[in-house]
Amino acid sequence: MIPEDKVAEVKERAGIVEVISDYVALKKSGVNFLGLCPFHGEKTPSFTVNPAKGIFHCFGCSSGGNVITFIMKIEGVSFPEAVKLLAKRVGVIIEDRPLTLRDKKRIDEKEQQLKIVELAAKYYSHILIEDKAGEAGRSYILKRGVKNELVLPYRLGFATDSWDGLVSFLVKNSVSIEQAEKLGIVRRRSNGSGYYDLFRNRLIFTIANVHGKPIGFGGRALDDSLPKYINSPESPVYSKSDVLFGIDLAKQAMREKGYAIVVEGYFDHLALYQAGVKNVVATCGTALTNGHLQLLKRYADKLYFLFDGDSAGKKATFRGMELVLPEHLPAFVIELPEGEDPDSFMSNHSIEEFNDAVKRAKPVLDYFLHDLIANGETGTVAGKTSVVDQFLLMLKKIPDPVERDLYLKELSRLFSVDLRTLLSRMGGNSREGRSIEGSAKIKGAGAGESLLVLLGEYPELLKNAKDLNIELLLPSELVPALIDLVSMIESGKKEIDWGSVMEKIVDSPLKETLASLLLDDKKFKDVDPEKALNDYYRALERKAVKNRDAKELRQELATLDSDSSRYWEIMEILNTLRNRKSLLH
Ligand code: UTP
Ligand code: MN
Repeated sequence: MIPEDKVAEVKERAGIVEVISDYVALKKSGVNFLGLCPFHGEKTPSFTVNPAKGIFHCFGCSSGGNVITFIMKIEGVSFPEAVKLLAKRVGVIIEDRPLTLRDKKRIDEKEQQLKIVELAAKYYSHILIEDKAGEAGRSYILKRGVKNELVLPYRLGFATDSWDGLVSFLVKNSVSIEQAEKLGIVRRRSNGSGYYDLFRNRLIFTIANVHGKPIGFGGRALDDSLPKYINSPESPVYSKSDVLFGIDLAKQAMREKGYAIVVEGYFDHLALYQAGVKNVVATCGTALTNGHLQLLKRYADKLYFLFDGDSAGKKATFRGMELVLPEHLPAFVIELPEGEDPDSFMSNHSIEEFNDAVKRAKPVLDYFLHDLIANGETGTVAGKTSVVDQFLLMLKKIPDPVERDLYLKELSRLFSVDLRTLLSRMGGNSREGRSIEGSAKIKGAGAGESLLVLLGEYPELLKNAKDLNIELLLPSELVPALIDLVSMIESGKKEIDWGSVMEKIVDSPLKETLASLLLDDKKFKDVDPEKALNDYYRALERKAVKNRDAKELRQELATLDSDSSRYWEIMEILNTLRNRKSLLH
């Protein structure tokens, strides 16, 4: 725990240009400094440092932040370690701060909760391994072909059909039932008297964090009863969008092999793991998130999606694709025969056949393109046009211009459309805001990001912004950044910590637009702040009103030229609507 004022002092004294110059040769260019990015290989500099705002950003790989994040990234250290390194450098003395009561309470509760999950895991595991009441669980794992030696590392367990087995066990061990309730593994009876177990008569999978600490559970019914799986809910120690099942067991193998295989189910994970394919993680009922990707990036440079051979699996693959494309994380698709999942595949086929399937894996965009051609409507010109546009929409998300070009050539060949036509249809300005010059051209796009910068530059606008309720119209991905910014303004900070604001945005394209706006010093200099606020607000409002209805949008689309940014905006919205619908399959 380092006191906030110390962190601020370190940041202030450690000039970002000076610090980064130790690692990167920087050249002055206007108000910014430019150099070759240390985080990805490049030949022309797109790594930009702005000393006035205290931020760095790479337009090539979209990494960015403040001086502390830079040290964290380049030295591979945690936040407090980075602050201490910098403190030493600039001669700030840091004494460890005594914890406040609130800090203490929060840490205490979390520790208690982790202990409770650990205890519950032991309870379930004991039943499966040696209790008479665990017989049903033992015969179930035998039937599912799980090797005995996996029971311990996976912390498999069994919940009996008792309503209060876990409750009484926890009480006997003097555990706070209120804390156990916060974990969702026991629930309060509706008549208010006492508690009951969440899991009954189920095989238990223990979900662990990267360090192997249990944080939650999944429970499989032993027969066809529904729901097939019950999962413990989100809790202070279990955030589903940041956790992948099996990552603690897989991380070493992912580092060694350099890639991760992503599957959907608990048993899929088990089946591969016990066949010796250990670089595997499972999403377990939640859609892949950006948090998952950031976690995987720590260990792997490539992803292999291995989802079920059915339409739901395909949808999961495409959702994953949209997330990885902007992330400089090549992704491939391992295809399974229709109707199989990795678990059934492994029980019907040899490991050699599995390895062959991995070798045949296609880059996810190739898979997408082939699927569009095979299943899209390509018999008519209108159908072909729509297929081309759906593919171009994905291409726009790719940061690497060479890769984008190669795909454009492929598309041009497949549809016999002139390359230049495709280029101009894509708008030429794909990945808006990639370059500083480019960002100045944006008008309608980036209104939300612009609002943030405007508010940071003119904090006196905060009251107007609040009156307008801008958070209701802002893209939801930007809301955490807005909250951070507002709390800085309200605490009376002289300088906005843009590095911190940027970190709150996980969506790379939005983060990049924000960075390019921040690095463009002229943009907000001579504006009338109140008028600008209203303009951006109205731009967001127009977008919101127009986003209402897919049918209306399609009609509007038909009247638009693909050169206009509104055309691509609508394509993006329709795509989101399609995905939302498919989430409800
Ligand atoms: P599947 O329905 O594909 O199940 O769901 P599965 O993994 O093949 O399970 P088995 O082999 O029949 O036992 C994939 C994953 O989605 C989550 C689980 O994590 C499951 O492994 N899921 C599924 C749930 O959370 N709840 C459900 O009701 C069903
Ligand atoms: Mn299965």
